[in-house]
Amino acid sequence: MDRIIVRQSGPLEGDVHINGAKNSVLKLMAASALAPGDYLLHNVPAITDVDVMAELLRAMGMTVASPGPGDLEIRNPGGLTPEAPYELVEQMRASIVVMGPLLAAYGEARVALPGGDDFGPRPIDMHLKAVELLGVTFESAHGYIHARADNLVGARVLLEFPSVGATENVMMAAVRAKGQTVIENAAREPEIADLAAFLNRMGAKILGAGTSTISIEGVDELTSVEHTVVPDRIEAATYLAAVGIAGGELTLVGARPDHMDMLCQKVGEMGVRTSTDPDGLWAMANHRLRAVDLATLPYPGVATDYKPFLVAMLSVADGVSIVTENIFSGRFRYVDELIRMGADIRTEGHHAVIRGRAALSGAPVRCHDIRAGAALVVAALAAEGETEIRDPDHIDRGYSDLVEQLQAVGADVTRVRD
Ligand code: UD1
Repeated sequence: MDRIIVRQSGPLEGDVHINGAKNSVLKLMAASALAPGDYLLHNVPAITDVDVMAELLRAMGMTVASPGPGDLEIRNPGGLTPEAPYELVEQMRASIVVMGPLLAAYGEARVALPGGDDFGPRPIDMHLKAVELLGVTFESAHGYIHARADNLVGARVLLEFPSVGATENVMMAAVRAKGQTVIENAAREPEIADLAAFLNRMGAKILGAGTSTISIEGVDELTSVEHTVVPDRIEAATYLAAVGIAGGELTLVGARPDHMDMLCQKVGEMGVRTSTDPDGLWAMANHRLRAVDLATLPYPGVATDYKPFLVAMLSVADGVSIVTENIFSGRFRYVDELIRMGADIRTEGHHAVIRGRAALSGAPVRCHDIRAGAALVVAALAAEGETEIRDPDHIDRGYSDLVEQLQAVGADVTRVRD
């Protein structure tokens, strides 16, 4: 089994390069099921979740190839098999976003039901309720949902929570529906705006993506396109945490500071200085971090995906912080690993109370998911001795070069391959 070995490091100095956003590229790949033709995506991260989505597209009948670093060519020959098999949905829950495009293109989709995961149960009831309003009917048997719609019809869809996946699924179903669809209380994440930009380039008529009200005028025809994936704000958060924890000065080349306003504000309260830079985002930390309270919220609030990094930072900050999780239940599992590294954290329901320590203590720890795994790597920069991080394949789902990029800015991080 591979391991990542980290020794106390810092200050960090230099440039890191922000790759394309995982949470955008997966949806753009799914959207290529909407119309036959050749698609070309740029700024695609070399991560295993992209490999799983590529497998899913192949299982449906498409071809996927990487002609060069960061590029992905997708050929949709038409006549796809409208199905997302269990083996792939089980590996990656985001696979369920193929439902919207398949319904739009073929009037049906057979999608395996995702199970729960480390964040607790993650139902898809909002996805189903939303597309049902467009005229979709469902049958569920043998672990699959079979969705059908002879004619998709535009409708007003009021989401009870601004779910990212539900907003994307209904947006992709609605692009070919007859008439207008209006999504209210839509998720506002930058990755939703990126998906809408991709769809509009294909010929869709979407207004308001990135705000709470998205209107979609159905069209009869869509065509394949070329598109550059928006940068990954969560990967950028990883390096902001690294510089906050280890000290130093980094430029996050390619980052979009305008997508990270609230994060910059929060890390600013902790003592990390940030500034928009012609290349992306500049960040510097030269004192011990300060404790702050924070609560996760849908965008533009503090993203739940940032939380493991913020908790890692607060573990070594001066003072006591309270962190509240409002998006997912049970998303504190990595806290036990930080405690193994000497962090003083008490969780109670969806709250965590963190008493900052001057330093952590290197220990063997285990990754449970993508961001939590990466957070252990950056926390270990402030741990005396050596930290051994096991199961780093979770990190590979969302990072192509975390170890190499940290090494390049002076961190003592290596991957041991067995
Ligand atoms: C996406 C992101 C994930 C991020 C999350 C919230 C991808 C691949 N993943 O996940 O990294 O943490 O947004 O920003 O883009 N819910 C329901 N019923 C539903 C749908 C969601 O109850 O039908 C609940 C979920 O359990 C959760 C909350 O709504 O508590 C938010 O989920 P959602 O925004 O849908 O997250 P994902 O799209 O799954």
